[in-house]
Amino acid sequence: MPGQIRGKCRISVFVSGTGTNLQALMDYQQLHPDWPAEIVLVVSDKPRCQAVDRARRAGIPVFANEVKAYPDKAAYEADILRALQEYDVALIVLAGYMRLVGPTLLNAYRNRILNIHPSLLPAFPGRTAVRDALAANVSETGVTVHYVDEGIDTGPIVAQRVVPVEPGMTEADLLERVHAVEHELYPATIAQVIMDRQM
Ligand code: GRF
Repeated sequence: MPGQIRGKCRISVFVSGTGTNLQALMDYQQLHPDWPAEIVLVVSDKPRCQAVDRARRAGIPVFANEVKAYPDKAAYEADILRALQEYDVALIVLAGYMRLVGPTLLNAYRNRILNIHPSLLPAFPGRTAVRDALAANVSETGVTVHYVDEGIDTGPIVAQRVVPVEPGMTEADLLERVHAVEHELYPATIAQVIMDRQM
């Protein structure tokens, strides 16, 4: 119905590291009350990572447990799933979650898990994408937001943005450029997905 006020899409952000993307999403949420997403839960496999601290400081509920606290990965993911259901999460967004999502979560959230990756996929999948792009001497790399499937950085692509690689750039320089682009692209793409799919 035109003009109808719709509820926000409840999202969970999955993290393992520094959490600059999580911070960008939290900041975006704060600054843009019309953003169609609401971060209701942060999930981490690294209870002491910086990203978890950021979430706690922002007062966002956190699920942070190591996989080794469970009998196996399926039990770990089943516990995450229970938390996601408790918080009524509709969409999962991975932001530096350094673990392959297993069948328990993939089946429950099929086509409802997004990831952000620091290259123009399918080029440079995996954990060292920025370093690999530099080593390959490419003139441009970039950022990709894609749906998550069983593979490593292989699901359908939703959005990409190019980042030029300038001569003499160090890995730190390029990482900084890539991050800046990620921090803009992710909130915008999440909003687009939610609107397009009326989630
Ligand atoms: C980002 O570069 C993202 O593309 C990749 O992991 C990194 C996470 O960085 N998947 P941060 O923890 O958000 O700072």
